[in-house]
Amino acid sequence: MKLLITGGCGFIGSNFLRYLLKKYPDYKIFNLDKLTYAGNLENLSEVEKNPNYKFIQGDICNSQLVNQILAEKIGCIINFAAESHVDRSLYDPVVFVQSNLVGAQVLLQSALQHKVSLFLQISTDEVYGPVLGNQKFNEKDSLNPSSPYAASKASADLLALSYFKSFNLPLIIVRPTNNFGPYQFPEKLIPLFISNALEDKSLPIYGDGLYVRDWLYVQDHCEVLDLILQKGKTGEIYNISSHNEKTNLEITDLILQALGKPKNLIKHVPDRPAHDRRYALDSSKLEKELGWKPKFSFEKALQETIEWYQRNRNWWERVKSGEYQKYYEKHYAYLKK
Ligand SMILES: NC(=O)c1ccc[n+]([C@@H]2O[C@H](COP(=O)([O-])OP(=O)(O)OC[C@H]3O[C@@H](n4cnc5c(N)ncnc54)[C@H](O)[C@@H]3O)[C@@H](O)[C@H]2O)c1
Repeated sequence: MKLLITGGCGFIGSNFLRYLLKKYPDYKIFNLDKLTYAGNLENLSEVEKNPNYKFIQGDICNSQLVNQILAEKIGCIINFAAESHVDRSLYDPVVFVQSNLVGAQVLLQSALQHKVSLFLQISTDEVYGPVLGNQKFNEKDSLNPSSPYAASKASADLLALSYFKSFNLPLIIVRPTNNFGPYQFPEKLIPLFISNALEDKSLPIYGDGLYVRDWLYVQDHCEVLDLILQKGKTGEIYNISSHNEKTNLEITDLILQALGKPKNLIKHVPDRPAHDRRYALDSSKLEKELGWKPKFSFEKALQETIEWYQRNRNWWERVKSGEYQKYYEKHYAYLKK
C-alpha cells in the first residue's frame, strides 16, 4: 500500500506518520510538506532513514509536483497540510485560503485524475462555530465558522464533498476536536503553557479564561484515523471527540499543579476577535458505526504530555529559538539541486 501524507512534518501528521510506519512496516509513505514555520523535520528524525519513508519538500498547491508524486501509484491521500493557527489567520488570511482551500482543490483534482482509492480530508470542529447551551454538534449541523482559519477549512469540506457528489471521488472527511500531545508547536495552548511554566515565564490566557475546548489526545486521534482508513464509509463525515470539555483555566491549573508552579504565572491578556466560547462535538456516529472508543483518559494523556515536554526540553527550546529550521540544511542538503 502506498500513501501520500501531506503536512507530515507538523504536529498531528508527524505523530500519524510514526504510528503508521511502526504498525504497518510494509506501507510505503510519501510525505509532502512545504516546511512552513510549523513544519519541523526533527519531528521525524527517528524515521527519516526508514526505506519505506520518503520526504518531499513542496507545496500542495503545486499541481505538477502533486501529479508527479501520485504517478507513483499512490492508493490513499491523507491531507493534514494546512495553516492551522487561528490567531495567525486574523493577521494573514490569504495564506490560509491558499493552503487550506486552493491546496485541497489541487489534491482533490489530482486524486481524481490518478484514481486514488481513498482521500481522507482532515477538517476540524471549528467549522461548526460556537456551540450554544448544552448542545453538541453532529455531522448534519450547518457550518458557521468564525475565523478565516475555520472558514478556509469549512470551504475545503464543501469542495471535497462536491468532488464526491460530482465525480464519485472516494473520500471521507473527519472533524476532530483540539488535539494535544508530543511534538505540538509551542504556540498552541498546552505546549505553550507547559514550556512557559518550565521556563518560569507567564502563561498568557485570553480574557476570562473560561473558553471551553474539547480535548483529544493525539495518540487516540492516530488510532481512530487508522480505523477510519480501514472501515470508514466513503462520502461520510465523522466527528471525532473523546468528550473532554475543559476551560482554558482548568487546563492551566492542571499544568501548573503537575509542574509545581505558582498560579501567579497566569496573565490574563485582551481577548481575540470572534473568539468562540465553546466547542463540543457529538461523535456517536463514529462510536456506533465503527465501534471507536478512546484508550486514554484525559488525566493520563495530559500527564504523559507534560512528561514528554519535560523530557524533551531540547526539542521545544530549538523550536522556540528557531534552531529547528536549520535541520533541513544539515540533513537534507542533498535534495537541493
Ligand atoms: N491541532 C489541532 O488541534 C487540530 C484540531 C483539529 C483539526 N486539525 C487539523 O489537522 C491538520 C494538522 O494540524 P496540525 O496541528 O498538525 O498542524 P501544524 O500546523 O502542526 O502542521 C501543518 C503542517 O502542514 C504543512 N503545510 C502547511 N501549508 C502547506 C502547504 N501549502 N503545502 C504543504 N505543506 C503545508 C506545514 O509545513 C506543517 O508541517 C490541519 O489540517 C488542521 O486544520 C488540527
